[in-house]
Amino acid sequence: MPAENPILVALDVPTPTQAIDLARQVAPYVGGFKVGLELFTSGGSEVVAAIRELGSEVFLDLKFHDIPNTVAKAVANATRLKVQWMTIHCAGGPDMIQAAVASARENAAALGIHPPVILGVTVLTSMDQAQLKAIGVGNDVEDQVAALASMAVSAGLEGLVCSPLELERLRRSLPKTIALVTPGIRAATDALGDQKRVMGPQEAVAGGATRLVMGRPIYAASDPALAAKTIAQSLGVA
Ligand code: C5P
Repeated sequence: MPAENPILVALDVPTPTQAIDLARQVAPYVGGFKVGLELFTSGGSEVVAAIRELGSEVFLDLKFHDIPNTVAKAVANATRLKVQWMTIHCAGGPDMIQAAVASARENAAALGIHPPVILGVTVLTSMDQAQLKAIGVGNDVEDQVAALASMAVSAGLEGLVCSPLELERLRRSLPKTIALVTPGIRAATDALGDQKRVMGPQEAVAGGATRLVMGRPIYAASDPALAAKTIAQSLGVA
């Protein structure tokens, strides 16, 4: 029996119809799909439901960041969509994080389902030193990632989104049970696109990634199903 399939395909395509078509093609070879802000604001909860009907996991990447009460209610609604993963911004602080985790647990218990894992986003990869300074953060990027990660885990968060190059340091400093979900994955033969700091899928899993978010290496391939199958085989999960 193959191990759990860690591949989550980023559905970064223009329309909900295209997203669902792509999901149908590759679902047999991957663990699930990432629905981000763009797809959710066009396809809404119907896209999520269509993907869940395929039996695939959904990573709802809406990066909630608001007052604790509002985030708790958004998390409750996302939990009712029966997604397996969702994101919040660690910068929302410990109270917001605790409210999010409690809401996922309470609402999942009421539905009799497994609670979704809430993943914290630390510092967006689009932020550099100058951008951090502009929002009043004096730490350098690495220190800010480490500070937010440790605060978030102390507040009860069970997972983080991170760069594959942060895996080693985070795996050393965080409890083993913390899920680490990483984008920036490329096989040696894949085009980098705009990704600069990447790692291969096998290397990332060996380095402690719980799930791999992969977009273009799968959806932009001439045969997305074959591309997904090849990656899954390389990971021993197909
Ligand atoms: O196409 P590619 O494999 O680069 O897609 C990666 C996905 O992960 C995209 O949806 C991208 O927005 C997302 N992501 C990322 N880097 C981050 C956070 C999210 O590439 N730091």
